[in-house]
Amino acid sequence: MYQNLVRKEVMGILEKEVSSFLEKFLTPIEKIWQPSDMLPDPSSADFKYDLEEIQTFAREMPYDLFVTLIGDCITEEALPSYESWLMGVEGINQEEKVGWANWVRAWTAEENRHGDLLNKYLYLCGRVNMREVEITTQYLINDGFDLGTSMDPYKNFVYTSFQETATNISHRRVGTLAKQSGNGKLAKMCGVIAADEARHAKAYKHFVAKILEIDPSEMIIAFEDMMRKKIVMPAHMMRQSGQKVGELWEHFSDAAQRCMVYTGQDYINILKDLLDEWKIEHVKGLTEKAEKAQEYLMKLPGRLQKITDRISTPDQQFQFSWVKS
Ligand SMILES: [Fe+2]
Ligand SMILES: [Fe+2]
Repeated sequence: MYQNLVRKEVMGILEKEVSSFLEKFLTPIEKIWQPSDMLPDPSSADFKYDLEEIQTFAREMPYDLFVTLIGDCITEEALPSYESWLMGVEGINQEEKVGWANWVRAWTAEENRHGDLLNKYLYLCGRVNMREVEITTQYLINDGFDLGTSMDPYKNFVYTSFQETATNISHRRVGTLAKQSGNGKLAKMCGVIAADEARHAKAYKHFVAKILEIDPSEMIIAFEDMMRKKIVMPAHMMRQSGQKVGELWEHFSDAAQRCMVYTGQDYINILKDLLDEWKIEHVKGLTEKAEKAQEYLMKLPGRLQKITDRISTPDQQFQFSWVKS
């Protein structure tokens, strides 16, 4: 174990392994799926049948599930703006053509396909007011975000570990619900996106595990800090036309809760998963402050469970301008 390292040095130690991270957790561009692999080809004779199938399923999709899918798409569409954030994180140098900057670019490039695919699919659905969706996306990028991470790589990696797991759950559930209704095309799309998110989650969890070996006290304190603030979703500033910043978020989150695509219970389960994965309970050689953080973290799932068990989601559906009436 090293003593009194600063973040930049720790990121420097890990940076030597970035090319192996790229190999292990990302897929070469020529081999990975592209949105057009999943979408009907407009030049094909079957296009009008495919389109009809997509539109029939879209019409039949329950309202909450449909707006959750749209919100997920918007979240993905705004994701490349997170790249510009990560590039400023301590220990990441945008000018580099190697190391962490390479990781951030390659990860963003994979992520960019998610919003691209979902956007094109939604356009074909015929049930979406695309202009309103585009306005929400533009606002989301325009309004910026505060994820509570500051420019601290440790906090950013906690955030991305959590977030990639959350998006994996959310896309996977939409896919499962789509499959149950017979909508094989959408199920496949959500399935391939969810699989990407699972790889990404593994990567970020691995980075945190590595930092825990090198700088355990500071890593645990950063984890505690993020959990005390509560992990906010990247779309928490979401709004639609005529609304103030963040006004739409709760309605979107309620819809996702009602259709069980992403719930308060998932939040707790992700936390438990991270605590297990990083073996937080068994990390040794901590400073006094870090031991307190460790204790706080280990008790947190139980405390959150009590709160979550008491909360109920409002039944009333909000009318999103994204959906054509
Ligand atoms: Fe994504
Ligand atoms: Fe992701």
